[in-house]
Amino acid sequence: MEEQTNKSGAQRAFIRSVVFVLTVLVVFIFIAEVITDISGQAHRGSVAAGVGPEQGQEIFFGKGKCSTCHSLGTQGSAIRCPNLGVKEGAGPPFDMPIIERAALRAKERTEKTGQPYRPIDYIIESHFDPGAYVVEGYKNEMPTIWKPPISLTADEEMSVDLFLQSQGGEVDIAAISNSPIFAKYKASRKSLESDVGVVAFKPYLGGDPAKGEEIFFNPDSVAPCAKCHTAKGKGGVVGPELTNVAGSRTAQYIIESVLEPSKEIASGFEPFLVVTNDGDFITGVKKGEDDKTFDIMDDQGEIRKIPKSNIEKVVPQKVSIMPGNFREILTMEQFHDLLAFLLTLT
Ligand code: HEC
Ligand code: HEC
Repeated sequence: MEEQTNKSGAQRAFIRSVVFVLTVLVVFIFIAEVITDISGQAHRGSVAAGVGPEQGQEIFFGKGKCSTCHSLGTQGSAIRCPNLGVKEGAGPPFDMPIIERAALRAKERTEKTGQPYRPIDYIIESHFDPGAYVVEGYKNEMPTIWKPPISLTADEEMSVDLFLQSQGGEVDIAAISNSPIFAKYKASRKSLESDVGVVAFKPYLGGDPAKGEEIFFNPDSVAPCAKCHTAKGKGGVVGPELTNVAGSRTAQYIIESVLEPSKEIASGFEPFLVVTNDGDFITGVKKGEDDKTFDIMDDQGEIRKIPKSNIEKVVPQKVSIMPGNFREILTMEQFHDLLAFLLTLT
């Protein structure tokens, strides 16, 4: 009898979560269409800004959001993505200018595709089609920068490339304008012009960002995200900082991160299980390691330095430290409020 009740309880929970996900998807498709409609009209007649490495620098640290993921030599504190400057002591290839590093990658691309790649072609491709070559040790997490939410124009793209060239190499605009890869993507984006443009994800179905913010920060809410995440200068550090999350991530990525955290685990936040000789099991995010200790941060944000002499084994985990049951905990309305708030974090 009791088993019967449990079973139908579980079934109900399952159906609820399926309905939830489907509704979110429908809403998402709806938004995508609205956006395509809006941006289709929005970007006619915009004036091209000047093209140059200075403009590129501004874009790198501003609209392009590059600096939220990439440091540049000693400038910046982003560590999740390859440093795009010269990082002394990092060992090859990260101790060489990006344009020299790009020469090595270009060689690999030539071998792989049979097309001649110059270093700048590799850099251009890394912006337009980031998945074409994924830097070893990193994940395919780089956004396509001419699509929303970053939405760089072809001129802005060119400025960023000039800026990257200027980091230890020669600025050569002709190399960019006669790049077959640049031409290819410039042509393909014409037909996709409606994709390009600054698009705010405003027309959201009734989500109230103020209510979402309350859920996010209130430690007693159903989903106290700030226990683990920092936004607007406050919160925990167990998970990635979300201060600019909507500036560089699509709504779809954010939705998936909340509803299915283990699907794509953010780099630098991979979970590990440490089994000690005393029979302790400790799970958390790896924060460091030297000859003596393995450092792990648990889901309360506490760092434990576990002596290696006391470790029986360290096992990488597939399930994120971020709770995977928000789709069951949050009501549809709460989810939209939360999402509306997250989308303000640009
Ligand atoms: C959300 C994080 C994120 C943002 C924002 C981002 N990138 Fe990246 N980028 C990555 C990751 C992760 C990689 C490594 C994986 C790969 O190769 O795709 C990467 C790789 C690169 C590379 C290749 C580096 C190498 O060593 O070969 C270049 C060049 C680059 N990004 C430039 C940029 C520029 C310019 C911008 C801004 C217009 C930018 N990125 C914005 C995450 C990001
Ligand atoms: C117990 C700690 C914890 C809580 C609570 C938590 N998260 Fe996370 N979150 C993480 C960790 C760790 C990661 C990185 C690993 C991963 O991608 O799953 C993460 C990843 C994310 C990402 C992807 C960020 C990126 O840059 O890739 C988003 C977005 C996010 N969380 C939103 C939320 C929201 C919204 C809530 C509240 C509903 C929440 N999280 C609650 C720990 C937590």
